[in-house]
Amino acid sequence: MNEIKQAINDCENLKDLEQFRLSLFGKKGLFAKEFVKMKSLPNEKKRDFAQKLNADKEFFLNLLNDKKMILESIAIEEEMRDESVDVTLFNSTPTSGALHPVMATMDKIIEYFLSMNFSIQEGPLVEDDFHNFEALNLPKYHPARDMQDTFYFKDSMLLRTHTSPVQIRTMLESEPPIRIISPGAVFRRDYDLTHTPMFHQIEGLVVDKDGVVSFANLKYILEDFLKYMFGDVKVRFRPSFFPFTEPSAEVDISCIFCKGEGCRVCSQTGWLEILGSGVVDPNVFKAVGYEGVSGYAFGLGIERVAMLLHKIPDLRSLFEGDLRLLEQFR
Ligand code: PHE
Repeated sequence: MNEIKQAINDCENLKDLEQFRLSLFGKKGLFAKEFVKMKSLPNEKKRDFAQKLNADKEFFLNLLNDKKMILESIAIEEEMRDESVDVTLFNSTPTSGALHPVMATMDKIIEYFLSMNFSIQEGPLVEDDFHNFEALNLPKYHPARDMQDTFYFKDSMLLRTHTSPVQIRTMLESEPPIRIISPGAVFRRDYDLTHTPMFHQIEGLVVDKDGVVSFANLKYILEDFLKYMFGDVKVRFRPSFFPFTEPSAEVDISCIFCKGEGCRVCSQTGWLEILGSGVVDPNVFKAVGYEGVSGYAFGLGIERVAMLLHKIPDLRSLFEGDLRLLEQFR
């Protein structure tokens, strides 16, 4: 008994162990021989003999199994040591990374507004109904709250559908004058050539004592910005509607592909829509407790600008992480 125990313990690898197992339990192994012996015993002794033999058998099988598990984990460790990757190995074709085109475009936009004395404010991606809708003069049954557009959580929490809630947070936390931009991710239930469920916007907000900030200031800065971004383009302000601005305007540039003659990208109109903007609605100031002030706000989608600048036909390709696309921006 003890000899067998010792022998199992002394096995140094799985091969030795398997060999020893066969010498015990193989067809010509020790136990097979013992069972043959049993046949020549008188009947009244057979039972006890068989019982003892089976108990021994189970005992050694367990011992073999335990030893096997130990040897296996040692074998795995050795294998991992031998096959480890040498991370210091020299790669003969070093490549540099690069900013994702969306981030590069965002940086370029931010750079402009920093040069115009705006500062950067950020806000949470998970918002509540008040900051994303209510305080922005979006009434309870406004279509923008539709389940089609908004990702809702429980307890009227949601993924912000635009960067405009940062306007509200900034005004609630500070006093005018305010001159901020707010870049970041926004979320809408949309998915096609020109929409993805997550995309990025930059919001702008300027507020000062009544009479200091006007639509004319808005017009000047957006025209200047669009020429900085797209070069020599025509800019037009088109009357529009946003619940949080009044008056509101969407801002177009002459199509950078056909120079305004009409093509597929601009749907033959000669114009590309880039921004939403307007003079801050009095109801918004009421919601944050501001009095005697005026201001303007604007918002734009960063992916749309990146797509136009780099002639990317499918917005979704920006989020697939395909190196064949990304390497073009190194
Ligand atoms: N929040 C608007 C949108 O997501 C954009 C906007 C911002 C319009 C500020 C006007 C003023 O479409």
